[in-house]
Amino acid sequence: MKGSTQIKPQDVIAPIDRRLYGSFIEQLGRAVYTGIYQPGHPSADADGFRTDVINAVKELNVPLIRYPGGNFLSQYKWEDGIGPKDQRPVRLDLAWRELETNQFGLHEFMKWADKVNAVPNMAVNLGTRGIQEAAELVEYCNFPKGTYLSDLRRQNGAADPFAIKTWCLGNEMDGPWEIGAKTAREYAHLANETAKAMLRVDDSLELVACGSSSMDNPTFGDWEETVLDECYDNVDYLSLHRYYGYYNDDDPTELDNFLGKNLDLDAFIKGVVAMCDAVKARKRSTKTINLSFDEWNVWYHSNDADTQVTPWQVGPHLLEDVYNFEDALLVGSLLMTLLRNADRVKIACLAQLVNVIAPIMTDNDGGVWKQSIFYPFMQVANHGVGTVLVDHSQSPTYNSREFKDIPYLDTVTTYDEASHTLTVFAENKHQTDDLDFDLDFTDFTIDHLLEATQFAGYGVKDDNRDGHMALRPLETVTHTDHHATATLAPLSWNMLRFAVK
Ligand code: AHR
Repeated sequence: MKGSTQIKPQDVIAPIDRRLYGSFIEQLGRAVYTGIYQPGHPSADADGFRTDVINAVKELNVPLIRYPGGNFLSQYKWEDGIGPKDQRPVRLDLAWRELETNQFGLHEFMKWADKVNAVPNMAVNLGTRGIQEAAELVEYCNFPKGTYLSDLRRQNGAADPFAIKTWCLGNEMDGPWEIGAKTAREYAHLANETAKAMLRVDDSLELVACGSSSMDNPTFGDWEETVLDECYDNVDYLSLHRYYGYYNDDDPTELDNFLGKNLDLDAFIKGVVAMCDAVKARKRSTKTINLSFDEWNVWYHSNDADTQVTPWQVGPHLLEDVYNFEDALLVGSLLMTLLRNADRVKIACLAQLVNVIAPIMTDNDGGVWKQSIFYPFMQVANHGVGTVLVDHSQSPTYNSREFKDIPYLDTVTTYDEASHTLTVFAENKHQTDDLDFDLDFTDFTIDHLLEATQFAGYGVKDDNRDGHMALRPLETVTHTDHHATATLAPLSWNMLRFAVK
């Protein structure tokens, strides 16, 4: 099978906002307790943060981390997580039916985020709380000093303001499962009034309004329009959430369908962009609303196990999906789809980061292990920088249960002018055939090949609990000044990096 791409420097989709490679830590399951925070663990530092986890997160080079939820957010009191730890209350977490000790809160998160070189994407509770508490949280975090709340932050150890720029106005407020779920009209009004108050405290904030928590929700579409209608002038981004599952192990055609689910992600993004722009036109506005895809991943492996978990534990094993090789292929494709939409998707968060539907897993009594999905995410987050170029690829296609014309070759190229580097990500979705990949570099001149790797050769149901998965050299690359070729193995994720003159 043959596939090709043309790489043209003048055909730029957009500069890449590195926040596209964000992730998410929710106070849920073992994400925080025995995940990033475990005083007494052999690798814990003086703050109780696991340094083995910090090192793994740094490998992923995640620039932004959403916190503290998620569904947890919608019944959370941020004040419970500040001040002396021995005076913090233990609470019922109604979202996940866990015990929340509040030993980890705002200051701990800010300190930890700093250690992994990430900025926060903070969220305010609009489920059970509202305008006052949100504005007070902004004051506590961002006001320099001289007020009760800013001085309280200083008393609690943070002399300088946290200067948090990006804020989510609630979480999944359209979802019937959410504590304090709202109709579109109710949410739109509350979000707008909250945004106004938060911006009065700090007018440099960037605000994200909740879009639909899934394209499958019956309110999808009406929700976006109603929310934007009211909030347009006071928000900068609209959020999207999407998780994918593999639902029929007995159906031999399911894998082809699963690997095509990035087409669904693309359609979701394009649909929401259209809605943002329709509201823009109706309002005759010059402002463009961009997208924050602040939850995305594969999530289904743990569904059954989670129904057996005893409630009201601290740090229970919840949402601990063990990802297999086919999940890594889909995650690679989803990342390339986000890149191809980088003109409008400026923030995205892989949900989540540690232990909970996560690329990084911990053993309470042991070390850290990397899931299959760790590898494509790490490569794109580290090397998908600069600008993303228009996809001129050509490939044979196939049809599946849900999708038509899925290209076997999925590829995207980024160009980093600063380092004169072209990075090509490419996936072969064919289950049995090699793909002869032809790359035409037109107006670029290749100096040399920097690196070529493949993630391939595993059974689709293999996972990485035993640590056997690794990126391997892709040894089939040849090149001349303006041209390269490579053979991509069946079911493979590949990355080729070229230094150009
Ligand atoms: O990421 C897990 C959960 O998925 C989040 O808490 C919620 O926002 C979404 O439904």
